[in-house]
Amino acid sequence: MKIGIIYYSRTGNTKKLAEIAFDLLKGMLHEVSLFSIENFSPENEQQFDLLIIGSYCDSNNYPKKVHELFASLTKNKHLASFVTHSTYSSGPYYQAWAAGSETFYDSYCSENNVVNKGYFHCQGKPSRAISLFIRSAIIKDKGEWKEFKADMNNHPNEQEIVAFKAFIHSIIPA
Ligand SMILES: Cc1cc2nc3c(=O)[nH]c(=O)nc-3n(C[C@H](O)[C@H](O)[C@H](O)COP(=O)(O)O)c2cc1C
Repeated sequence: MKIGIIYYSRTGNTKKLAEIAFDLLKGMLHEVSLFSIENFSPENEQQFDLLIIGSYCDSNNYPKKVHELFASLTKNKHLASFVTHSTYSSGPYYQAWAAGSETFYDSYCSENNVVNKGYFHCQGKPSRAISLFIRSAIIKDKGEWKEFKADMNNHPNEQEIVAFKAFIHSIIPA
């Protein structure tokens, strides 16, 4: 199977997952290409049986560049996507600050007749600026912040990487 992985990463979390996916798929003997979003030309799209789009979460959605990428794709493609974000992976903070990417992706697939092979998301280590934002605007409670801070730099962690690998396996037909 010919697979293209396109990722947009600013601080390395999403890139790390994209490289894991690349190595895993290569090991499964697929013909796989890895592109940072800056290096992908939409004209190349037609040659792939499946595109996997990785991104960081920006303001509870995909960043503008990834929206532009989605808009440039022809319909009827097989797609999967993964997103890293700095708030928790579930619960009210996830819903308020990161679930928007998943909502967008699901609507995009159904509105454009895309075969949706799946969506994965997990926490990524925040930059200092983002951690300061979380402290001032999201997690205001001192005790809750202490708990978040103690673990925030450990992502994606081993468990999330295992789950990500299982996700990659799940989107590829046996
Ligand atoms: C401009 C900007 C906006 C962000 N907005 C959110 C957000 O709304 N929700 C969230 O959980 N994380 C947000 N983040 C944090 C990143 O999504 C997170 O740190 C991600 O893992 C970064 O991935 P990268 O290392 O691949 O760049 C934002 C980061 C930046 C730079």
